[in-house]
Amino acid sequence: MSNPSFPPLPPDVRAMPHKFRVLTGERPTGPLHVGHYFGSLHNRVRLQNVGVDLIVVIADYQVLTDRTDPGNLSEIVHGLVLDYLAVGLDSRSTTIFVHSAVASLNQLLLPFLSLVSNAELARNPTVKEEIASTRHNTVTGLMYTYPAHQAADILSCGANLVPVGEDQLPHLELTRTIARRFNQRYAPLFPAVEPLLSPTPRLVGLDGRNKMSKSRKNTIDIRSTADKTAEHIAAAVTDSQRHITFDPQARPQVANLLRLASLCRNEDPHAIAAEIGDRGAAALKQTTIEAVNEYFAPIRARRDEYAKDPALVTSIIRKGNARASELADNTLSRVKEAMGMQY
Ligand code: TRP
Repeated sequence: MSNPSFPPLPPDVRAMPHKFRVLTGERPTGPLHVGHYFGSLHNRVRLQNVGVDLIVVIADYQVLTDRTDPGNLSEIVHGLVLDYLAVGLDSRSTTIFVHSAVASLNQLLLPFLSLVSNAELARNPTVKEEIASTRHNTVTGLMYTYPAHQAADILSCGANLVPVGEDQLPHLELTRTIARRFNQRYAPLFPAVEPLLSPTPRLVGLDGRNKMSKSRKNTIDIRSTADKTAEHIAAAVTDSQRHITFDPQARPQVANLLRLASLCRNEDPHAIAAEIGDRGAAALKQTTIEAVNEYFAPIRARRDEYAKDPALVTSIIRKGNARASELADNTLSRVKEAMGMQY
């Protein structure tokens, strides 16, 4: 899975993979799409494959920050794990767990909340943005505190490297603040946590809007079929200039399709544009459809294979929960000891 479109992993990660424990993950809100794939999943698989200890959290409590109905969580989580396996996460070396199943992780939220002020929680720019875009007129306490909960995800398992998109940087800063304050006030338990920024530019939605997002239905799901993929890409917004060029500033939608084709084909987007030349948006779409379907065909086939075994996902999650619990139990008991709470 080497792809020159991706800059190499940082030198210290490649040289000393065993020094790194990586924690990353997502909210289980639905199927993962090609934006997730090129933005983060592909990188996770690379980290796993160089020998880093990779832990993936499925943040099911976080789904409740801005909605009262999380949907059918067990179905969504099951599908998510199949997506992970399909793209190449290997449950023999990678830990996949759901944070609601790890009691000691959740208990860490209480001491962590004592280390941050209300004002700090309220001025988090990502939280502010989420509040501004929410459809509801009430803002839950979880909305303000989920970044501290995320610190519990990260610090409970002793992670020192967290691959994230830009929007997660304020949360990582809060994690570092909590760790530093705990270390100063009680005992130096927590390592310094570093972010690892996503290596690829963000793909925008096929409707030409800013972000690929599940709720806007402007994405291509990893688990989609070849036909559905073709349908979605054929309906993408482009422009009316026949000559295709890669110009992200002036022609963002055309550039987005070229970028997608380029990631899948592992070729320069300018070269793909030149190959299409004067054949216009229809040819651009056809090229992109073929590139995406070819790239994801083996991933989709693998997913179908894994989906045939109904017990597989459950056993992977159980095993992951057990390991996450072991790590978090140990952290919590050291935290309590440092705080003088051993009775
Ligand atoms: N906040 C992340 C998201 O919105 C998910 C997440 C929860 C996470 N805990 C984490 C990411 C810990 C990195 C590390 O998808």
